[in-house]
Amino acid sequence: MTIEYISLNPSGDKMPLIGFGCAKIPPEQTAEVIYNAIKVGYRLFDGGSNYYNEKQVGDGIRMAINDGLVERKEIFVISKLWCTNHAKEHVRQACQRSLDDLGLEYIDLYLIHFPVALEHVPMHVRYPAGWTQPGEKQVRRARVPMHVCWAAMESLVDDGLVRNIGMSNFNAQLMMDLLSYCRIEPALLQVELHPYLQQDAYVKWIQKQGIAVTAYSSFGPASFAAGGLKHAKSVESLFDNPVIKEIAAKYNRDPGQIALRWSLERNVGVVPKSTSVSRMKSNLDVLNWKMDEEDIQAINQLDMGLRFNDPVIKGWDLPIFL
Ligand SMILES: NC(=O)c1ccc[n+]([C@@H]2O[C@H](COP(=O)([O-])OP(=O)(O)OC[C@H]3O[C@@H](n4cnc5c(N)ncnc54)[C@H](OP(=O)(O)O)[C@@H]3O)[C@@H](O)[C@H]2O)c1
Repeated sequence: MTIEYISLNPSGDKMPLIGFGCAKIPPEQTAEVIYNAIKVGYRLFDGGSNYYNEKQVGDGIRMAINDGLVERKEIFVISKLWCTNHAKEHVRQACQRSLDDLGLEYIDLYLIHFPVALEHVPMHVRYPAGWTQPGEKQVRRARVPMHVCWAAMESLVDDGLVRNIGMSNFNAQLMMDLLSYCRIEPALLQVELHPYLQQDAYVKWIQKQGIAVTAYSSFGPASFAAGGLKHAKSVESLFDNPVIKEIAAKYNRDPGQIALRWSLERNVGVVPKSTSVSRMKSNLDVLNWKMDEEDIQAINQLDMGLRFNDPVIKGWDLPIFL
């Protein structure tokens, strides 16, 4: 298995195009799942403090290092700054907490999880903080502008806590604004991307700026339907989509591999999550083969602009994607 890499700006670090998603893995299973993923061949781990399992991700990585499966320098670790920690002093504190939980000396890529500053929740009160203040149902915004948060992210690079910085869930307007003042340009943008939500013009524009793009939720409704989200349950699963199934049959592949390969054909990284070792293996087996242009075009026709990871959809009064 050859892992393909993408070069990140401005560090020049090589990031595997395919990685492993760490969200929605129950903490008690996480260390073993991560260990298995390393054994199977994954070298990038997409985690975050708000996934409620960052310590266990670190345990799995350390188990694999101690057993001689990999060295630290072969692993690419992503973590994410949660919304309640955008203020300068909280950015540093949050990053240090992730480093401590992971048991690492540096994070390869640190992303702002959402472009939403929420009122701080001290770690001793609740960690991970979640969206709302303890005991409340609605989010409370905090007065922290993005340029303040980004400057604090830049200082993490200056001080060697993280090697690269980027963001997730940012729209084009905010990216344009940030590019007008940043000292260190973002290395990567991670957004929801799958055949039902392709955001083609945005992806191409971001890549043209020299910023790498990673897709999250490459299987579209799958993880959200599993989590009970109504409109994810009512849409046709990508694994059952006739276009995807027909292409899968043509290449003697499974539908999941077709969804992932379609992303890689756009030079967009992927971070599929699976707790099953056999699906981990098949999801990783998407390199070293190509899809014909006509099949890419057929998948391009499936776009519905259908977003699943939207705080508004989840019932919060927070229209960040409108
Ligand atoms: N930045 C953000 O805001 C954000 C948001 C969402 C996700 N993410 C990142 O993206 C990662 C992946 O996204 P996601 O968690 O939404 O899930 P996903 O990878 O799109 O889908 C995972 C779901 O599909 C199942 N599955 C995995 N491989 C399969 C296959 N080959 N065939 C059939 N079913 C398969 C999994 O079940 P099993 O486990 O049983 O296999 C799970 O239910 C996350 O773990 C996280 O790292 C980031």
